[in-house]
Amino acid sequence: MGKVIICASQKGGVGKTSTATALASIFAQRGYRTLIIDCDQQCNTTDTYRAETEGVATIYDVLLDESRISISEAIQHTECGEILAGDSLLRQADEKLKGCVDGLYRMADALEKCNDYDYIFIDTAPAMNSILHNCLIAADEVIIPVTADRYALQGLSQLNETIRAIKKRQNPKLTVAGLLLTKYNGRANLSKAVRASLEKVAESMNTKIFDTSVRECIKVKEAQAQKQTLISYAPKCTAAEDYNRLADELTG
Ligand SMILES: Nc1ncnc2c1ncn2[C@@H]1O[C@H](COP(=O)(O)OP(=O)(O)OP(=O)(O)O)[C@@H](O)[C@H]1O
Ligand SMILES: [Mg+2]
Repeated sequence: MGKVIICASQKGGVGKTSTATALASIFAQRGYRTLIIDCDQQCNTTDTYRAETEGVATIYDVLLDESRISISEAIQHTECGEILAGDSLLRQADEKLKGCVDGLYRMADALEKCNDYDYIFIDTAPAMNSILHNCLIAADEVIIPVTADRYALQGLSQLNETIRAIKKRQNPKLTVAGLLLTKYNGRANLSKAVRASLEKVAESMNTKIFDTSVRECIKVKEAQAQKQTLISYAPKCTAAEDYNRLADELTG
């Protein structure tokens, strides 16, 4: 199985989807066999890839449907790359998974049978729920996007506790790849106090703040509105440049 990297934060709008879609397209462009999985019922990644959600198999069928089809049966091949589409039915997931003995291990089980990829990126919803637990139990690495502002720390301690517990009990290989500053604006820089607190959080997660910050860039919004990946819409913009540097950091 390839490396599974999840973008996670229960805080909304911090750049999870932008990061997952940018990295997946860059890794595909660099020749890695790459899959993106949309685990958010909002289906923003699915929209960006212009993948179908109606009348096709989705992540719901893989994790929750009685038939439990395999990932390879549910993949859509789009111009942007290969995707396992999201599904608005995921909003029922918590209730359905609760009380199933294997309820937290569905993603790990599905990925275990999927050997076709070097990198699998997973976009998740801004929520602390069973789907996120499933993803953390299945993942190798977590990228935690944080907005470069005074609210940067919101929600991080709860996420940290969850990651610690899962690492201890269910997935010892789980590591936090790093905290990623997004929507970074050099002029309105992070205050020293916030950066120091973020560095503390990173330390307690045994990780770092990535050297690369993703600069605020209007093309990210435009690409999302146009339902295109940033890398196809504006491959040379500052954010695309930053995501390429982040990809370099991830591959070392
Ligand atoms: N570097 C950036 N520069 C400018 N705008 C950005 C940047 N990154 C993300 N955005 C914009 O911020 C908004 C939130 O980004 P995104 O959808 O990636 O966050 P998210 O964490 O996935 O949100 P959610 O929690 O709702 O899933 C979007 O409108 C996106 O276009
Ligand atoms: Mg999102």
